[in-house]
Amino acid sequence: MGNESSTLVDENTRPSVLEARTVDAVAKYIKEKHVRRIVVMVGAGISTSAGIPDFRSPETGIYSNLVHLDLPDPEAVFNINFFRQNPKPFYALARELAPGQYRPTIAHSFVKLLHDKGLLLKHFTQNIDCLERLAGVPGEHIVEAHGSFASQRCIDCKSEYPDEPMKHAIAKGEVPFCSVCRGLVKPDIVFFGETLPESFFHNRTLPEEADLCIVMGTSLSVQPFASLPSFCKDGTPRVLINRERVGGMGSRPDDVLILGDCDDGVRKFARALGWEEELERLWEEANPNKKAREEELAPPATREERLEEEIDRLTAEVDRTLEISDAYQKRVRRKLDGPSPESNRVSGLAHVFPHLAQK
Ligand code: APR
Repeated sequence: MGNESSTLVDENTRPSVLEARTVDAVAKYIKEKHVRRIVVMVGAGISTSAGIPDFRSPETGIYSNLVHLDLPDPEAVFNINFFRQNPKPFYALARELAPGQYRPTIAHSFVKLLHDKGLLLKHFTQNIDCLERLAGVPGEHIVEAHGSFASQRCIDCKSEYPDEPMKHAIAKGEVPFCSVCRGLVKPDIVFFGETLPESFFHNRTLPEEADLCIVMGTSLSVQPFASLPSFCKDGTPRVLINRERVGGMGSRPDDVLILGDCDDGVRKFARALGWEEELERLWEEANPNKKAREEELAPPATREERLEEEIDRLTAEVDRTLEISDAYQKRVRRKLDGPSPESNRVSGLAHVFPHLAQK
């Protein structure tokens, strides 16, 4: 376990659990073998269709687009020692990466669907965009192995830093300093040279208990995360949904490769499972602009509806006015001590509708 061959399994080698190395065979396995403990392991590739670049794709990846930051090497932007010397490049990049600007992809919603169906044992992510949370996957089912923007602290005294000033600093590309010791503040993202969060090491053996492993959108190039798929027991089917084959995926007899776009891959998987409509609905519900779109798409009110609305509005206004008038009446009566309720009624209304006063 841990390191494994990256040699593709011989095509004549029969799977030991699945009927075949196909999506349909995995769907059949899930249904017929009552699969209940799926571990999912993802990287930046499941967020690229949301508009967040991954790290290593040639030309489009973050590491291919940092020349303007004048770094000794691209990964320096996430290196804790470089950050101590010069935090500016990170905060220049953080503006692009910070959550709140992006919608979850359908791949994130696929993980939510697994949870809703009671099949998700744990979701391991290398991503810092919090899109799994935004898609509705409960925090206790997520291991953010490389941290996230969800919180921040001083890198020296470790004092927590408030969210609002942090959002403001990131939006402006400014470097925030600790109010306790004036040290540099950094989001709780795991930089190169830092240890992964306790939750990763606490859950690292879970793949051994899994009855299915799904790896999506990652180059599996950064340890210790990259070893996770190899912790699955032999005979546990593993599915890779990725543009290209990575790590040791495809080396075992029950590995299934769905090479191509993550969103297409999860749609193909959902179709094989008969979950396509549910998945699309779930993804639509995760759309933060959904309410705005619903109002925008709502049919214009008919003339009768508009008239009825206007009558309701005026009736409510008259009721409010009469309430004011009654209260006013009581005050006047108390002051004048006995004039006829009727004359007070007119003077009260006159207070609100001046034209009555001329009568
Ligand atoms: N569909 C399918 N695969 C995709 C898509 C997509 N839409 N977009 C990208 N990919 C694939 C790429 O081909 C690549 O194999 O996803 C993988 C992304 O790999 P990386 O860019 O290396 O991202 P990731 O694996 O998440 O990086 C791991 O490296 O720099 C550190 O901390 C950083 O968490 C990050 C870690």
